[in-house]
Amino acid sequence: MKTLERVLSKAGVGSRTEARSWIGQGRVRVNGKLIQTPDHWVDLERDRVSLDGKELQAEAKVYVLLYKPKGYLTTYRDPEGRATVYDLLPESLPYVFPVGRLDQDTSGLLLLTNDTQFAERVTNPEHKVPKTYLVKAAGSLEEAQIQSLRDGVTLSDGPTQPAQVSLLRKTGSCTFVEMVIREGRNRQVRRMLEAVGSKVLKLVRTAIGGIEISGLAIGKHRLLTPAEVRGLAPAARRPRRHSAG
Ligand code: URA
Repeated sequence: MKTLERVLSKAGVGSRTEARSWIGQGRVRVNGKLIQTPDHWVDLERDRVSLDGKELQAEAKVYVLLYKPKGYLTTYRDPEGRATVYDLLPESLPYVFPVGRLDQDTSGLLLLTNDTQFAERVTNPEHKVPKTYLVKAAGSLEEAQIQSLRDGVTLSDGPTQPAQVSLLRKTGSCTFVEMVIREGRNRQVRRMLEAVGSKVLKLVRTAIGGIEISGLAIGKHRLLTPAEVRGLAPAARRPRRHSAG
């Protein structure tokens, strides 16, 4: 839900001040009814808003897949001026927000969008969207430790759901595993490895659902295809077209 003046300004037809004055002038209707209060609540999923008789279309939905390099923060602006994922995106993109976070030291697949329903669908653990990580763990991970990860471990914020864990290879000093989790708690993979007595040395998110990072160069981005969007969030609203009238 958004206020009527915000809906008008977000649709890109004018500033909030202009929107207030149009509303006051009686140029705006919601579901055909004249509304002259800028604070009138609008449900963008259901309500039709028109300005001078022309119906507004919702802001075009954008779905970005970024190959986040290590060292970038998943935040819009850092008070300390450190690099953020927005430094990697062109200014021409509409505002998009991250769908979940990757730690500063984690690289890999990060989705950004302006579609809150899509983001909710992907991040809410109830929907169990799998997130796949390539983990370089310190030391030799033994079968019992891997089994603990598979069973789920208890973290400070409660027990985790079971993880799928595949042993990829061991070197003298470390173990590579692929882990698939269906939650997205803060630093979850790192904390799970610590809970079994190891430590993450390197972490890369390689996939979310069926979308993989392979094929994209590090630091680069691309838009998701409509089929990828539908595949990840089948219940999310279809993208709507942009612009007023
Ligand atoms: N788990 C972590 O520990 N870190 C991430 O960035 C993502 C998942």
